[in-house]
Amino acid sequence: MSLPAPIALRLRQIRLEADGIASYEFVSADDAALPAFTAGSHIDLHLPHGMVRSYSLVNAPSDGGRYVVAVQHDTQGQGSSAWMHTAPRVGDRMQAAPPSNDFALVEDAAQSVFIAGGIGITPVLSMLRRLRELGRPWRLQYASRSPRETAYADTLRAMAGDGREVDFCFGSSRTDRLDIAALVRDAPAHAHLYCCGPARMIDAFIAACAMRPAHTVHFERFAATSEAATEGGYEVVLNRSGARYTVAPGKTILDTLLDHAVDVPYACTAGVCGTCRTTVVSGEPDHRDDFLSAQEKQANDSIMVCCSGARSKTLVLDL
Ligand code: FES
Repeated sequence: MSLPAPIALRLRQIRLEADGIASYEFVSADDAALPAFTAGSHIDLHLPHGMVRSYSLVNAPSDGGRYVVAVQHDTQGQGSSAWMHTAPRVGDRMQAAPPSNDFALVEDAAQSVFIAGGIGITPVLSMLRRLRELGRPWRLQYASRSPRETAYADTLRAMAGDGREVDFCFGSSRTDRLDIAALVRDAPAHAHLYCCGPARMIDAFIAACAMRPAHTVHFERFAATSEAATEGGYEVVLNRSGARYTVAPGKTILDTLLDHAVDVPYACTAGVCGTCRTTVVSGEPDHRDDFLSAQEKQANDSIMVCCSGARSKTLVLDL
């Protein structure tokens, strides 16, 4: 398995979009055409010290000469958002993996309903732009702490009308004030529903959508709900090469593979993006991710190596 070749980007603009949220507009560093993307896609931006972070593209796919991402300064985070908010300068060169999409838009849905919390608006905005271009109706419920912390509010207001509705909901206990169950209940039976936001919001959305057909329910998490498995004490065997590595306490499987120069794709390192999904040949994973469905976890035939561990003494991976 090899990583896609990174794209060279140049930072053309930084804009403050709301309190604690800045957007970054990247263009090609060498004037080559940028790879196309679909609404809901993200790029994995390469940051210093080997950090790679996934950021959703907020622009429309038709606006393909640039990639625009928005980053919230997370004071509790691992330093990537603090770096993004202080270090980059207009004109800087950076690298990113080509866009990929784990949160695809169903473009021909007769009705689409979106629920976004905070910075979760970013993939949703690209989707709303795309549906607007297609002349499709949508409804957005957008929750954030306060108007000052609400990115793209004016853009969204300007997009409303002609079958497009935007409702804002401000408050510090977002999911308490936003009645997700009622929103889901009131959505037309044939509507496709989307949610991107904090873990509590996603959990409420999934619970509210339990009776809806699974193919009409779409969500993307941007923060992990479980701690990574770093207890160690088991062995990982690579089925193709036969290599065996002991996962030591304090290390994840991904740490161990990277320590031994095994080429494994990864991005969020938090079990939410799906990039590091690896096939399990034998052994029992200890799933800690927010990407696989409950059914997929039960099947035990794949694992997110960035955060999950092993319940068995040995885990054989298709690597
Ligand atoms: S790297 Fe994102 S889920 Fe593992």
